[in-house]
Amino acid sequence: MKGIVLSGGSGTRLRPLTKITSKQLLPVYDRPMIYYPLNTLIKAGIKEILIIVAPERAGDYLNLLGSGKQWGVKFTYEIQDEPGGLAQAFLIGENFIDDDDVALILGDNIFEDDLATEIKSFSGGAKVFAKSVPDPERFGVVKFNEQQQAERLVEKPQEFLSSYAVTGLYVCDARAVGFAKELKPSARGELEIVDVLNKYLERNELTVGSVTGEWLDAGTFDSLLRAQIIAKDHLTKNMII
Ligand code: DAU
Repeated sequence: MKGIVLSGGSGTRLRPLTKITSKQLLPVYDRPMIYYPLNTLIKAGIKEILIIVAPERAGDYLNLLGSGKQWGVKFTYEIQDEPGGLAQAFLIGENFIDDDDVALILGDNIFEDDLATEIKSFSGGAKVFAKSVPDPERFGVVKFNEQQQAERLVEKPQEFLSSYAVTGLYVCDARAVGFAKELKPSARGELEIVDVLNKYLERNELTVGSVTGEWLDAGTFDSLLRAQIIAKDHLTKNMII
C-alpha cells in the first residue's frame, strides 16, 4: 500500500498564523502538525509516501522532511496549483498510485488511535473511519439507514443527518483514480472526496470503521489548541517519528 498526505490549501481560517507558512507546518506541541498524519501512515508500515503541497510552500516541506530516509521511508512531492478539492489528490497522485492501494490522509488530521491494524487489514474497495462529533455540520458525515448500514456520505450537511463525521483518512484501491476522473466540481467548486467514496458505497464496497480515541482536524484556532494539549498528554509517547 502507498500513502498520500494532502498538505496543500491556503489555511485561511488560521490567518495570520498561516500568512507566512503552511498550516500543516505549524507546531502541535513539540512537532510540526504534519508529523502526526505521517506517523499514522509510517506506523502502518507504508514505505512510499507522496506529499502534496501548495506551490509557495514546497521548499519548506523539502527542507523539513527531505527524502524520508531518516525514517526508513521514501517521500515524493507533488504540487497542487490550486486547492481544487480533496479528490484531486487521486488525480495528482495517479502515476504514483499506479495499480496499488492507497491510504490518503489529510495533513491537518490528528488521530490518537493507532490505526495500523485497520490500515493493514484493508482488502479492496474503500474504507473510512467515522467518529461521533457534536458539530457534524463542519464535516462530511455518514448517513445510516434504519438497519444502521451506511446509506450515503454527505459533505457538510446543513440540516442534521447524522453525528458521525468522516475523518480525514481514506483507504482506497486504485479505482479511486478513475472515480475521481468522473467527478464534476461541487457547488463550492471542489472535487469532493465524499463523491469518490459514494461510488464505492453504491457498489456495496465501502467499509465504515470507527475511531474511538480523540480525533482532531486542527484547522481552527480552538482545534489547534486542543491538538496541542492532547499531543502533550497522550500522543507524543506513541510517535515513531
Ligand atoms: O477533517 C475531515 C474533513 O475534511 C472531512 O470530514 C470532510 O469530508 C472533508 O471535506 C474535509 O473537510 P474540511 O472542511 O476540513 O476540508 P478543508 O477544505 O479544510 O481541507 C482539509 C485539508 O486538506 C486542509 O488541511 C487543507 C487540505 N487541502 C484542502 C483542499 C480543498 C488541500 O491540500 N487541497 C485542497 O484542494
